Amino acid sequence: MSVDSNKTFYLETFGCQMNVHDSEKVIGTLVHEGYRQVETVEQADLILYNTCSIRDKAEQKVFHRLADYKKLLAQGKKFGVLGCVAQQEGEKIFERAPHVSLVCGSASYRKLPEMLFELEKNWAAVPNRAEESQVPSSEFTHSGNTRNSRLATQSLVRITGIDDRETDECFETEFTARTNPHRGYITIIEGCDKFCAYCVVPFTRGKERSRTSDSVLAEARQMADLGYTEIQLLGQNVNSYKDPAGKPGGGFSRNKKTFAELLAAVGEVPGIRRVRFTTSHPRDFGRDIIEAIDAVPTLCDHVHLPVQSGSDRVLNAMQRLYTREQYMERIAWMKAAKREISITSDVIVGFPGETEEDFAETLSLLDEVGYDSVFTFKYSPRPNTPSLALEDAIPDEEKARRLEVLMARQREIQIARYKKYIGTISEVMVEGRNESRAQWIGRTSQNKTLNFTAPESSAPKVGSYVPVRATASFPNSLVGEMVV
Ligand code: 5AD
Ligand code: SF4
Repeated sequence: MSVDSNKTFYLETFGCQMNVHDSEKVIGTLVHEGYRQVETVEQADLILYNTCSIRDKAEQKVFHRLADYKKLLAQGKKFGVLGCVAQQEGEKIFERAPHVSLVCGSASYRKLPEMLFELEKNWAAVPNRAEESQVPSSEFTHSGNTRNSRLATQSLVRITGIDDRETDECFETEFTARTNPHRGYITIIEGCDKFCAYCVVPFTRGKERSRTSDSVLAEARQMADLGYTEIQLLGQNVNSYKDPAGKPGGGFSRNKKTFAELLAAVGEVPGIRRVRFTTSHPRDFGRDIIEAIDAVPTLCDHVHLPVQSGSDRVLNAMQRLYTREQYMERIAWMKAAKREISITSDVIVGFPGETEEDFAETLSLLDEVGYDSVFTFKYSPRPNTPSLALEDAIPDEEKARRLEVLMARQREIQIARYKKYIGTISEVMVEGRNESRAQWIGRTSQNKTLNFTAPESSAPKVGSYVPVRATASFPNSLVGEMVV
């Protein structure tokens, strides 16, 4: 199945790392189907948005973007919506943005080649839009029913792939177009079965399904052969990874691995120097993960463990399946590790019913843990989620106030934490160069940004690993000098 090789596409990605990696797979698939990726909407025949619906703001962004470029339909450009908003809204997208021709949820990407083929075939069968672009756009907006106006404001082709949320299959493709030649993602588990009260992910990404450890390891070895040195294992909840080895179609059961074993095995692939993983759910986070980090030096000393709230009452209402005490138990494991583990988190403020006291408990948790970074969010009611039934009674100004207080507290914590690194030497991966600051951009194993200077005679290569002594600190980064 192949399409005209002159076809071009533009793809913009919103949302999480999972989406970024899905886009790499989508790009690889499209290129394999004969499309060429271009840098601007103007150059493209097919304009794709890989969307996020985690919060209302993320979802609105997509519809704004679609509205901005609506007029390009008259020039014969096709629009496609992929990802979580596509999965969530389905055919309703055609109503909200009638110029869209393709809606494909994240669980249906395996069908993309067929869908693209259908799209091109049906597109070729409708009258030529190029002629219509000669007609002034004002004519379209006034006369609702003429053929030209419909063609110029509404796509006559509609292809959907949104029916696969319960699929058992992962989006495995050999055509992943990774953009960074040194660091790459590998999906180990898709979907989520946790159903936290606020979260749309189980509805957009479907039920949990793991890839076999054999297939993950094969991809890791292949990446190492291509020169990648850092791997990030991805999943909505990597800790509930269940190796399907031994199941029908899952390969040999004797190779079955737990998540911690898989993590260690990826870390032992020759050539791999750093392994990260995200995201973890505290309920499934086992001590064996810390033991693996202790045993395998390539496993990075960083854990992202979203807590969401420091109040047991709110955690219960959020259906998070753990208490503050259980969360702190996991933190204690990390603090007892051989290497200092950097801990980061996600926090939501203003969940329905969150009182001042509940919020104060979240603040005290920040102090108790001592995070190196926290992503903070105002609660946003999402379609289908259990918490939609709860009144979103905390006014936006109050959510904004709590968010500010939280961020200010965390900033103080980070100022103190980052200061401690002054004078220490860390190995960084060189990520690039900031010419305006005459600095190299580096990242430590703890996932901290450590920008640095180096003598011109020993300028480091992007992608290499060099030792850097930290000389100054900021709330979110360190600055230093390369040790030569
Ligand atoms: N409102 C606000 N924040 C949310 N998150 C997920 N769903 C919502 C929501 N409905 C946050 C959580 C999660 C992160 C990826 O996004 O903190 O860990
Ligand atoms: Fe957004 Fe969640 Fe979809 Fe990622 S999985 S793009 S965070 S809704």
